[in-house]
Amino acid sequence: ATQGQVIKCKAAIAWEKLKPLSIEEVEVAPPQKGEVRIKILATGVCHTDAYTLDGHDPEGIFPVILGHEGGGIVESVGEGVTSVKEGDHVIPLYIPQCYDCKFCKSPKTNLCGRIRATQGKGVMPDGTSRFTARGQKIFHFMGCSSFSEYTVVSEMSVAKVSDKAPLDKVCLLGCGISTGYGAALNTANVEDGSNVAVFGLGAVGLAVAMGCKERGAKKIIGVDINEDKFEMAKQFGCNEFLNPLKVEDTVASLIEMTDGGCDYTFECIGNVKTMRQALEACHKGWGQSVIIGVAAAGQEISTRPFQLVTGRVWKGSAFGGWKSRDSVPKLVDSYMDGKVMVDEFVTFTKPLVEINEAFDLMHQGKALRTVVNM
Ligand code: APR
Ligand code: ZN
Repeated sequence: ATQGQVIKCKAAIAWEKLKPLSIEEVEVAPPQKGEVRIKILATGVCHTDAYTLDGHDPEGIFPVILGHEGGGIVESVGEGVTSVKEGDHVIPLYIPQCYDCKFCKSPKTNLCGRIRATQGKGVMPDGTSRFTARGQKIFHFMGCSSFSEYTVVSEMSVAKVSDKAPLDKVCLLGCGISTGYGAALNTANVEDGSNVAVFGLGAVGLAVAMGCKERGAKKIIGVDINEDKFEMAKQFGCNEFLNPLKVEDTVASLIEMTDGGCDYTFECIGNVKTMRQALEACHKGWGQSVIIGVAAAGQEISTRPFQLVTGRVWKGSAFGGWKSRDSVPKLVDSYMDGKVMVDEFVTFTKPLVEINEAFDLMHQGKALRTVVNM
């Protein structure tokens, strides 16, 4: 048994920015009070991992074990842990749910403030790390660090999911798919008959389309500069398309396509220019635009205030507004019931030793998601 022992295993370590991840041995300390050690079986690779690796995150700390879209099995739990036990199938959560803070007690948000400060510093809630490699302390990432065969996370950052669900698929519900799907269902609360525009047809945008389709949206306009995305986007619900490079004025084109403007628009790119377009393509009086894409540090959005005075609404959400521990198990069940698509988002699979290729595929725009099997 490994319980109570330091586990030596393989991890993909980011020693410094702009360098490929290095697959090497890491020592993973046993879970302390309120912590859970997880054997990770699979993980997605997402833009936030690349953003940090590329040195764009001003708060990025190295050396670090990245990854926040994982799935695994509980190996052991620390003192006082009651919500999961050894053998449970789990998804680590980058937005925890403590059930106790001001945020968790409010039905208006899914953000939990309880361990935010330490998570941002790359350490466990007690201020220390569980990872060591080459005799050096390695930092945690987003409270998850799924690019390791074993990881330790706070109990507040673990969702117990059905053990019938394939972890090499439902790991993707740990970030991108849930983020887009929830933005449509929770943040926008799209109703049937709506006209919507989705800016950016990556995994996040396609998950938005899936949510809008489920709600019975009429027009789901996919907006992307890469027309290769259009055909595939149809299966997620997009039924009209716009390539901004082929029209003179993206906003005017969308307003014309929707007889006055969209009821809902979603920005799933992370570009402040398209954020403005998405807002201004909304229908006067009621159109709502949801920002999901993560813009580069220091960027600012702008529009004329008149846009808001005349009834357009600008919003945003993180992780689709889902209260994480409550919702992720339900999202997994919805996938098992055939309601939420997940398999369709897996473009490639790679073994851990080829994780850097998963980053290449993402940068090249070739992958919705690459799932790395540990
Ligand atoms: N106009 C329209 N489409 C664009 C533009 C643009 N100016 N720039 C990029 N795109 C398209 C790309 O062609 C791509 O299809 O946006 C899509 C983005 O998809 P992905 O790169 O696969 O990103 P995804 O994983 O869906 O995440 C989207 O959410 O998590 C955040 O930081 C992440 O900002 C990113 C966003
Ligand atoms: Zn909380």
